[in-house]
Amino acid sequence: MKTTYPTIALALAVLFMFGCNESFSFGDKKMSIEKQAFGKTADGKDVDLYTLTNANGLKTQITNYGGIVTTLYVPDRDGKLDDIVLGYETLDEYIANSPYFGALVGRCGNRIGKGKFTLDGVDYTLATNDGENHLHGGVKGFDKVVWDAEPLETPDGPALKLTYLSADGEEGYPGNLKSTAIYTLTNDNELKVEYEAETDKATVLNLTHHGYFNLAGHGSGDILGHELMLTADNYTPVDEGLIPTGEIRAVKDTPMDFTAPMAVGARIEKVEGGYDHNYVLNNSDGSLALAASVYEPKTGRLMQISTTEPAIQFYSGNFLDGSNKGKGALYNKHNGFCLETQHYPDSPNKPEFPSIVLKPGEKYTHLTVHKFSAK
Ligand code: BGC
Repeated sequence: MKTTYPTIALALAVLFMFGCNESFSFGDKKMSIEKQAFGKTADGKDVDLYTLTNANGLKTQITNYGGIVTTLYVPDRDGKLDDIVLGYETLDEYIANSPYFGALVGRCGNRIGKGKFTLDGVDYTLATNDGENHLHGGVKGFDKVVWDAEPLETPDGPALKLTYLSADGEEGYPGNLKSTAIYTLTNDNELKVEYEAETDKATVLNLTHHGYFNLAGHGSGDILGHELMLTADNYTPVDEGLIPTGEIRAVKDTPMDFTAPMAVGARIEKVEGGYDHNYVLNNSDGSLALAASVYEPKTGRLMQISTTEPAIQFYSGNFLDGSNKGKGALYNKHNGFCLETQHYPDSPNKPEFPSIVLKPGEKYTHLTVHKFSAK
């Protein structure tokens, strides 16, 4: 805790609970969190939308349905704010058809081959929802459930704490699993996502955030001119079902190499289907390190992603095909990109990959920070 803030403000930071359309300020900085109704799910659960504004006027909206970040307004080099994430205006659209726009993904983000794995000698069969494979937590993953929400006033900025209890057997996974994700819009212009989880039975877990970004503004066309850098010398090649073969392959001298900044579109034609690959981060000791940096030359916006996770999925929006119309825009192929910080796909079936097993008494932690600036 910072000692520069008055004691009373710190006490408020811990104790303050927000009702409807309440806003707050502390220190000499103006920040706010507002809550509004966003709709109801088919089974009658109320869903809310929270608007977080930081001291510099950056703004994000997050719903407790799927933990979805529905909007994110950040400045360009002239200080002009634009919404840089793909998404929808209404809850019904998210429920009807969303390719995981802005959502929290779990229990396991990415694919598990044939939806099967063995843990402690027991065979488990998960829900399959991507051909014969399990993708992003199954038929009803964490992106499609209603999380408990608690707005928080923190010294770093406004935050939203989301909690979800996934019952033993949900989508085929073992163990009652309690997960929390805290989104903070910091006064250093970061969107921070902190995850924690605990289980009462050995299970597997790979939480991530599935934001689709377009730093020129959502709905402004393709992202092929964005310049991407990844701190990854290697990636995990996949088979035709996008399941890793087990090989760790060097990116050097291939169109997969983003170790130096390069336009996404410069070599995309040489990559069959476009980019949809898990990059193995050079830092994999669990400390927070820079994983990706994306620069958009027209607006000057820069997003730097740091994470404690050992890998990042770079997905160039290959399956967007104009069938998703969101916030007044039509999202076509390559109109957004995802950088999902994670463990490697199909880890439960690849003993050579870093383990994603979580046991009772252990705590899963994962921190990812998206830092925004412009130049
Ligand atoms: C995956 C893609 C998938 C997409 C779903 C990404 O994380 O890598 O293969 O189609 O999510 O929207």
